[in-house]
Amino acid sequence: MTLPADTRDSVLFPAIIFNLVLFAGDAHAERESMLYPAGPAAEQIANIWWEMLVVYGIVFVITMVFVVLALVVRRREHPVLGSRFVFISGIGIPTVILVVMLISSIHSTVEMGKVPADFHIKVDSHHWWFAVTYPDHGIVDANEIHIPVKRVVKFELLSHGVVHSFWVPRLGGKRDMLPDHPTELRLAADKPGVYRGTCTEYCAGPHALMAFRLIAHEPEEFDKWLVRQSRPPPVPTDPQLRQGRDVFLEQGCAACHAITGISESDTGPDLTHLGSRITLGAGTVDNTKGNLSGWIANPQSIKPRNMMPPSYLSPNDLHAVVEYLRSLQ
Ligand code: CUA
Repeated sequence: MTLPADTRDSVLFPAIIFNLVLFAGDAHAERESMLYPAGPAAEQIANIWWEMLVVYGIVFVITMVFVVLALVVRRREHPVLGSRFVFISGIGIPTVILVVMLISSIHSTVEMGKVPADFHIKVDSHHWWFAVTYPDHGIVDANEIHIPVKRVVKFELLSHGVVHSFWVPRLGGKRDMLPDHPTELRLAADKPGVYRGTCTEYCAGPHALMAFRLIAHEPEEFDKWLVRQSRPPPVPTDPQLRQGRDVFLEQGCAACHAITGISESDTGPDLTHLGSRITLGAGTVDNTKGNLSGWIANPQSIKPRNMMPPSYLSPNDLHAVVEYLRSLQ
C-alpha cells in the first residue's frame, strides 16, 4: 500500500503528530524520517507502518465507540450484546488481526534478508564514531559511507566496545552492532543523495552525537569516488601545509589518527580524506574551517565526553594543521 505524498501529509494526522514530536524544530529533518523511504527495504517498513496505522486506527475507533456506548446507554436487565459477542469481538477478531499483521511483518523481514548483495562494506563502531572499510578496494574511511545507487550493499557490522545500533531511517531497518559477533544488514538507495544515519542503541557518553552520513552516488560518480579515495594524499609542497603536516606528526595527532603514507594508528578516525567529509565529530557539526579549528583546540566543547583530548597548539600551528587537514581531499 503506497499513499500519495499529499495524503500522507494532510489527512493522517497521527503521522503528522509522530513527525512533529520526533523532528520538532528542524525543518529539514522530516526528510530523514522512515516515512520518506528512499530504498526498497525502507519502502517495505513504511508500508508495514501505514498498514498498522490504518488497521489499528480502525480497531481503536470501533473500540472507542463501544466504550462511549457502554458509558452512555443505560444498563438493562438482559444485555443486547451477549457473551458470544464479547468472545468474538474481544478475543477472536483481535487474534486474527494480530496473527495476520505478524505474518505480514515476518514475511517482509525474511524477504529483506534474502536479497542478494553485490557490494560489501564493513562498519566498525567505536566510542563514539564509525570506522568504514571497503574490503574489496582497500579503502578506510570514517563516519561517512559512500554507496552506488540501485545496488544492494551488504553491511558487515561489528562493535569494538559496547552495543551500538546502525540505522539509516530512509533506507531500511536498524541492526545492532555487537562486540565479538558480526551482524549483517542489506540496504539499497533508489536515488542519489545524502542520508543521515545514527546510532540508535543507548551507548552512554555522547550517544546522541554518534551519527554518520551515507552518500549514494550515480554509478559513474561512485567509480570516480573509489579512484580518488584509493589514492594517498600528495606530499605537500606549500610551506604552510608542510608545517601543518609536521604539527600533525610531532604534536600527538598521529598517535591516534591515520593518514595514508604518514601515520597508521587506528585509535581514532582515519583522516586521509578529512577535507572531503561533510561533518566532523561523527555527524556532530559541519566540516568548516572554524569548526575544525574549534574541534582540534577543544573537542570536548563540541562533543562532550568524546575520547579526544584538547590540544595546546600555538595559533600559528593550529592554523597550519587545520589548513593541512582541509587539503586532504
Ligand atoms: Cu553508539 Cu549509541
